[in-house]
Amino acid sequence: MARASSVFACSSCGQQTPKWHGRCPGCGEWNTIAEEARPAAPEPRSRSAGRPLSPVPLRRVDAPAVERMRTGIGELDRVLGGGLVPGSLVLIGGSPGVGKSTLTTAALGSLAAAGRKVLYVSGEESAAQVRLRAQRLEGGALDVPIVAETELEPVLATLEAERPEACVVDSVQVLYDSSLSGSPGSVGQVREVAGRLMRVAKAQGTAIVLVGHVTKEGSLAGPRVLEHLVDCVLSFEGERERTYRTLRALKNRFGSTNEAGVFEMREQGLVEVQDASARFVSEATRAPGSVVLCSMEGSRPLLVEVQALVAPTELVPPRRVANGVDRNRLALVLAVLARHAGLSLGQSDVFVSVAGGVRVEEPGADLAIALALASAAKGSELSGDGRPLAAFGELGLTGELRDVAHADRRIAEAGKFGLERVLHPGGGRNVGQALRAALGGRLRQAA
Ligand code: TYD
Ligand code: MG
Repeated sequence: MARASSVFACSSCGQQTPKWHGRCPGCGEWNTIAEEARPAAPEPRSRSAGRPLSPVPLRRVDAPAVERMRTGIGELDRVLGGGLVPGSLVLIGGSPGVGKSTLTTAALGSLAAAGRKVLYVSGEESAAQVRLRAQRLEGGALDVPIVAETELEPVLATLEAERPEACVVDSVQVLYDSSLSGSPGSVGQVREVAGRLMRVAKAQGTAIVLVGHVTKEGSLAGPRVLEHLVDCVLSFEGERERTYRTLRALKNRFGSTNEAGVFEMREQGLVEVQDASARFVSEATRAPGSVVLCSMEGSRPLLVEVQALVAPTELVPPRRVANGVDRNRLALVLAVLARHAGLSLGQSDVFVSVAGGVRVEEPGADLAIALALASAAKGSELSGDGRPLAAFGELGLTGELRDVAHADRRIAEAGKFGLERVLHPGGGRNVGQALRAALGGRLRQAA
């Protein structure tokens, strides 16, 4: 039953109504109204209200260095900006099966082993299920205290009684406040749960990590509504069937959002991949359609293999499948190839993927995609003397190659793994010239 202290609010336009509607009377969207706790009445105006404040020059503002708890998982610490900040709220989003529970359990385990007080709140799985996972993990995972609970009140009471330094709530979508009528995971519930956990986090200096599910379409009404509330949003990406996972910061009040960490899912849990470039280069196939891309994962260069397959098709329109690269960038590269390099693939199915299940989101991938496509279409390999060709650079709409950031570091990373031939925008070539330099001769699709 709805309580008197709740209102119904639209998650899309913010319109508030006293009762539930299927369609928002404000913006007309369907299924966006959810129950929320009524915000507390504003404090009566104090006598200082309206008095002017004295602005202070930024240089005289105290900015104490934030203390951090290192989780001991290097890649996670780096993405967090150096470790967990006490009293902060971190949201880790990712699709089911990507390894969120594994990562957070391991992090608490290693904090526990370092003598920190921790707590794992499991709403999704029973304590026994979490134990079975923890058995496979190294470190102090089995020493992590756990409560299995889905109701918010007892969880808050436990946090206040135990006062852990770090706590994981797995997941924020299953916790619910019994005084709200919305079902667990609804916008109102998720916002209320996160808001109340945040107040506890700030009040007692507990770092709280909220686990949130995002479906493939990113549609589940959970984590998205929390992005502005939390201090840090991490996204854990990768596919259940693939070994490699990347952890990225989408928002970080205490660090850079450019960082990314690479993990590999093994039998004994997630293992950090520090030498990811070496791994991907040694796995590169060197067959037609394969090229090594010098990409940047945040502040770190990363070499990945881009593969393309071009095959004749009867379909109209032909297939364009992109794994690990943006579909729109693939469309752009195909258009530039057709218009400026004389390579039209309109009669072919085109598949492009980044090996290992890694996602590359930067425009610097364009040239590598173009090279992989041209090499696949021509049926000739790009590697010379047994070493794969490396490349990076953005394609402009007029066929020019455009510089991307950190060219020197990308080239240095390639050199470190013995890739002497790196094709990049330096030298003012256009895409046609670059492809001819790599493949030689005229670009024609093999019959
Ligand atoms: P999990 O952490 O439960 O994912 P999430 O919480 O994001 O839903 O783990 C996902 C998968 O990882 C699961 O299918 C089993 C696999 N896995 C391993 O391969 N090795 C391991 O050591 C563990 C703990 C899990
Ligand atoms: Mg889980």
